[in-house]
Amino acid sequence: MPLCTLKQALEEARKGHYALGAFNVNNMEQIQGIIAAAAETKSPVIIQASRGALKYTELNYLKHMILAAVELHPEIPVVLHLDHGDSLETAKTAILLGFTSVMIDASSKPYEENVRITKEVVEYAHAFGVSVEAELGTLGGIEEDVSGVVKLTDPKQATEFVAATGVDALAVAIGTSHGAYKFKSTPVLAIDLVETISKATEKPLVMHGSSSVPQEILADINKYGGKMPDAQGVPIPAIQNAIERGVCKVNVDTDSRMAMTATIRKIFTEQPGVFDPREYLGPAREATKQLVMSKMRDFGTAGHAGDYVPISLEEAKKTYYGL
Ligand code: 13P
Repeated sequence: MPLCTLKQALEEARKGHYALGAFNVNNMEQIQGIIAAAAETKSPVIIQASRGALKYTELNYLKHMILAAVELHPEIPVVLHLDHGDSLETAKTAILLGFTSVMIDASSKPYEENVRITKEVVEYAHAFGVSVEAELGTLGGIEEDVSGVVKLTDPKQATEFVAATGVDALAVAIGTSHGAYKFKSTPVLAIDLVETISKATEKPLVMHGSSSVPQEILADINKYGGKMPDAQGVPIPAIQNAIERGVCKVNVDTDSRMAMTATIRKIFTEQPGVFDPREYLGPAREATKQLVMSKMRDFGTAGHAGDYVPISLEEAKKTYYGL
């Protein structure tokens, strides 16, 4: 099976009223855990890499590890996606590397500039059959070098933005933020905005900052020497509510980082004699798999891997963009 485009995967999800998890990766064990979860639950999946991940893995390591996952699991539609690309140059790097989807995030720039940069990336990417996600509005929190103060997406501007740029998916700001400290008290999200924007734009919407910071994982991290006081994420029912209203891609990074960390901390504390990386990275990989499987069930993705056959980038160029 060829890698899948984001456009195809999200259109299928929109039709089927479910969402795909988009899981960030930086190393082999995360990739293995995610693809194993997808295989076991029969879920299509988005594997995504940030600029930081590309740098950390020197581009080629990441590419070949993900291609290995695809080769071993031809029954799973896999979208290879660039998370938070900041420029046309970054998007070009990802596309030339073989990514089937890129995000251009110019949401911190003035509206007109966001439109201009996004359009530029859309023109370049679509010529390869590659899908584009863009962002309007601003998320709070900090993730690597992406930071911001919350500014909710305006539905009218979203409609204009989608028409002006031709993007395939739109990331909306509804009050979530990146990282493990999303809310100081009870989580408040503008879920109604999702429905309004989904109806107005008729595009699959993307929810960033969607980790739930599972309390049992957090408790293990703190119990085994970690220090993550007052961490809080987005409750799963809120995500499910957003999915019902038009979210088709749910970004998760923090939770899988936490799952690995909790496992490794526990092993180091309970078995101080362990020094073979396989003895802690193996269980960390299994923890990633379990976490991702629960997300695939929660987001309604489980069971949908066999619904369609991914089309190639060449076919996507013709089918979607008339090129
Ligand atoms: P979390 O920090 O909530 O996992 O969000 C990740 C994300 O949105 C990546 O783009």
